[in-house]
Amino acid sequence: MKAIAVLPGKAGSIHLKEVPKPSTQEIPNGRGVLVKVLQVGVDGTDKEINAAEYGQAPPGQDYLILGHESFGRVEAVGPNVTELRPGDYVAATVRRPGSSIYDQIGTYDMTTDDTYFERGINLRHGFLTEYYVDEPEYIVKVPQGLQHVGVLMEPTSVAEKGIVQAYEIQRRLKVWKPRRAAVLGTGPLGLIATMLLRLRGLAVVALGRTRPPYLNAELLEKIGARYVSTQDVTLTKASAEYGPFDLILEGTGFSPLVFEAMEVLAKNGVLVMVSVTGGDRKVEIPADKINLGFVLGNKVAVGSVNANREYFELGAKDLSQAELEYPGWLSQLLTHPVNGLENYKEMMRLLTEEKNAIKVFVLVAKD
Ligand code: BGC
Ligand code: ZN
Repeated sequence: MKAIAVLPGKAGSIHLKEVPKPSTQEIPNGRGVLVKVLQVGVDGTDKEINAAEYGQAPPGQDYLILGHESFGRVEAVGPNVTELRPGDYVAATVRRPGSSIYDQIGTYDMTTDDTYFERGINLRHGFLTEYYVDEPEYIVKVPQGLQHVGVLMEPTSVAEKGIVQAYEIQRRLKVWKPRRAAVLGTGPLGLIATMLLRLRGLAVVALGRTRPPYLNAELLEKIGARYVSTQDVTLTKASAEYGPFDLILEGTGFSPLVFEAMEVLAKNGVLVMVSVTGGDRKVEIPADKINLGFVLGNKVAVGSVNANREYFELGAKDLSQAELEYPGWLSQLLTHPVNGLENYKEMMRLLTEEKNAIKVFVLVAKD
């Protein structure tokens, strides 16, 4: 079968590769689930892997199959699989457990190991191929009625985890009633996070670079959020006007913004950082002022990476809720389909050059 692969460490090595089709027997104890891949979303991480800035091949191999945002349909299950049936729509989680105690209890997204295993990213093959096999523990059912937007499950899980972290931490306050949130970054993650916060009833200001007219801004306004271009209004100004923000989610990839967010965060507020920043940027910050504000305001800053099964399941529920609350909205994020694995060059081109793309995704197979 076909797969889109890279040679990790070799920039621009993306290519189409012939790989063996997996079978349920590869998984011990009759627990294999064979999934036919239908659609796979791509993002900045895939771009970085192809640029050789990130990612490793599975041990003993020189190539890595790309793709971590999967949506598919169960084709066959081993004799001891009771959780899933052929025909079910599914999305797979990305991380696989290492050895820390967090890994052992299913919270592999909280691993303290130095090495982590992520399908399509690090040491494990991904989903940009025709079929994959895995254990049911890592495969989450997607409701039938979400089949047109099931490819959004993985980015949704990442946003869910970030937001749930904030609420979990704030249980310390006995009553936390966040009213205003700021979402920094208006790509797929920012859009989905804003939607999730709107479902929870918060007033949301989303900040992005682009000046309107801007499709992402229109989509944000459709769900009752306010869009602000950072070319016109800084975060500090936005906070003075629409804040203070009880929750700030930083997802721009521009790390200096984290410190501005720390400054403007409301008392008892939480800052959630979700950007994976591979660079080595240095900035000067008002350290005393930020520290003082954190101490006197009992503020929290938390980092959040990846997501485990719990957040995929929550994601499936919230995507369903979103379809009821904002009918048709999610589909509008799926702006740039690519037809077939063999069009991987077009996939990369859209990912790197298409400024109007919200979500680029590969239509691997028809249902
Ligand atoms: C993925 C996450 C992953 C992170 C770091 C992101 O693009 O969506 O699942 O944990 O990259 O590798
Ligand atoms: Zn990703």
